[in-house]
Amino acid sequence: MKVTVVGAGAVGASCAEYIAIKNFASEVVLIDIKEGFAEGKAMDLMQTASLNGFDSKITGVTNDYSKTADSDVAVITSGIPRKPGMTREELIGINAGIVKSVSESLIKYSPNLIIIVVSNPMDAMAYLTHKSTGLPKNRIIGMGGALDSARFKYRLAEALECPQSDVDGMVIGGHSDVGMVPLTSLAVRNSVPVTEFLSEERLTQVAEETKVGGATLTKLLGTSAWYAPGAAVSEMVKAIALDSKKIFPCSALLDGEYGLSDISIGVPCIIGKNGIEKIVEVKLTEAEKNKLAESAVGVRNTNSLLG
Ligand code: LAC
Repeated sequence: MKVTVVGAGAVGASCAEYIAIKNFASEVVLIDIKEGFAEGKAMDLMQTASLNGFDSKITGVTNDYSKTADSDVAVITSGIPRKPGMTREELIGINAGIVKSVSESLIKYSPNLIIIVVSNPMDAMAYLTHKSTGLPKNRIIGMGGALDSARFKYRLAEALECPQSDVDGMVIGGHSDVGMVPLTSLAVRNSVPVTEFLSEERLTQVAEETKVGGATLTKLLGTSAWYAPGAAVSEMVKAIALDSKKIFPCSALLDGEYGLSDISIGVPCIIGKNGIEKIVEVKLTEAEKNKLAESAVGVRNTNSLLG
């Protein structure tokens, strides 16, 4: 499998690193507009191959999309990240133009590729990519829910005082501080509902900490996070490469699922070689249904800024 990662900043480099380390891709192309930057990151990463034991070949290129030709998957991380105090939505003005032109350049050389959108505001950027490219909807996937669910599991394990491997949980809805919907009703510790262990008050706290997971890190780091975003992307690319049909919450273009249409928003999806193989409609509580509907209003408001 050939994977292109657009943007060699912290998130893009982390995506390339985790994809390479997991050793399922033959080739990873890192592309950036800054002269020599992607080449440098790729060379540095390639010098870890003998240390980390991978055979994936990573190359870097400055803005030459012909080098991305025949990619199976492309990950778009380009654009500006948020600074402390900013919302993801505030990035739309700059990032929309970048994401549109990047996706067009990618398709020119890889008409059959699957695109994973990471740039923020992610749900609006995924929607924009659908509208501007017209690719079949299974081939454009927004990455948000896989990351937010990992942050949810981190917070759940902290509250439960147990390892993360003992917990499972999912976050749906928009990838925004207010729009995320952590599904506390479905979260489990080794198949036991977490509601058996945690008070409603503690679970509400877990949900709130999850929703501001990205903002908390942006405040600490001065820019947005990269390790967990890169790891989340790499797991999704791996599911495509191995056709594993794992479920990830992804921003998918909906056509009536969950009562929503003409919107890209986080819902559980089965991911395989065709990208989004199926959208899974899980049973939500009334409160969760209402939160998802509210989240959709927020995402539509951001989409309306696309003009
Ligand atoms: C975050 C960015 C990737 O949540 O949206 O860290």
